Amino acid sequence: MSKQASTPKILISNLIRPTNLQTGQFTGELKNKLEEMFGNKVYLVNSGRSAIYLGLKVLGVGQGDEVLVQAYTCNSVPNPVLWTGANPVYVDIEESTLNMDLTDLERKITSRAKVIIVQHTFGNPAKIKEILKIADRHKLRVIEDCAHSLGAGVDGRILGTFGDLAILSFGREKVISGLTGGALLVNDSALESEIDKETHTLKPLRKRNILKELANYFSWRILLRRISSKDWGMNFIRLLYQYDLFNVVTSKKELDGLRPNWYPSQMANIFAQIVLNEFPKIDSYNNHRKEIAETYFREIKNKDIKLLPKHLGVYLRVVGLHPKAHILLQEAHKNKLNFGNWYNSVIYPESVHLARLGYKSGSCPMAEKVARETVNLPNFLGMVDSEVKRVINFVNDFS
Ligand SMILES: Cc1ncc(COP(=O)(O)O)c(C=O)c1O
Repeated sequence: MSKQASTPKILISNLIRPTNLQTGQFTGELKNKLEEMFGNKVYLVNSGRSAIYLGLKVLGVGQGDEVLVQAYTCNSVPNPVLWTGANPVYVDIEESTLNMDLTDLERKITSRAKVIIVQHTFGNPAKIKEILKIADRHKLRVIEDCAHSLGAGVDGRILGTFGDLAILSFGREKVISGLTGGALLVNDSALESEIDKETHTLKPLRKRNILKELANYFSWRILLRRISSKDWGMNFIRLLYQYDLFNVVTSKKELDGLRPNWYPSQMANIFAQIVLNEFPKIDSYNNHRKEIAETYFREIKNKDIKLLPKHLGVYLRVVGLHPKAHILLQEAHKNKLNFGNWYNSVIYPESVHLARLGYKSGSCPMAEKVARETVNLPNFLGMVDSEVKRVINFVNDFS
């Protein structure tokens, strides 16, 4: 498995000669590559959440409308709904797929509903064909959220080509990452002129944001990752975060459902360059993650942890459900095992203000239960067999 060795090199060479950080040739090249991959028109933006926001706007979503989104999601899905003035309506999930429960979806559609955002959670394809039929019956538009599922398909057709629109994310820890970035894919060509209008007025991503991303990237690689397993280290990182010095993935405003003014912006050339460099590795990354998932399926024998059933998508995350998930995660970190916590809250991260994001406690009971029990088994890029073995031994011994 090739490591992402060239991302730091690209960043450093850009810092030495910072002439094309914001705009340049790479955004055009990436757009062409994506258009070839999906067979549809593509618009690049600075993140997946910007793509959702623009998508909702061109579909005419505004004040008082309702947009159906699943619970067990990231704040960057309901937030763009709030930014348009509309209300997110949360749909419960199936425990076996972590995707929308279609019975609950039908139950929650009202006359104010305009759009369904269909999330392929952690790369597991949602029941997109059935959802399209439901949308058709209720005259709703569909945005496919492919933030986790780049490269996955259903019946030989790539995800991202089913909905009226679809979004991609190239944020950190996605299938491929450009540190940050996103795309809006257009299947309904009648929407193109409206999107042209919306995107023509977008400003370049501010240099300040670009530099903050770079500072985060290097400080994480060089220092913070090493201290994050210690309690004092986590406290230090939290302090940096509190003062907005670290981790711009979710800014403080977004925890309250508000829109920081850099969403939406154009995709920065430097981040497009990194995504382009990662592009040929999509399949090898997805295969690597899947191989690790299959090893877990074969070798984890602890009956207290429920691994989600295998599926035909991609394995951005391998999720297990454990009644003592919280303790398991703490123990794993003490053992320097890099477990993840996506999504240990119905809306991730745990620090979001659920009510301000329109979530009513108890409205999606399965999502709430699953969130309490969620752990992500490590399957990061560059992970070697001995590390996988250590995770298996840890999980099998945990009680
Ligand atoms: C399901 C889902 N959709 C959309 C997004 C938005 O992506 P971005 O971080 O690029 O804004 C995320 C982000 O993590 C996500 O998890």
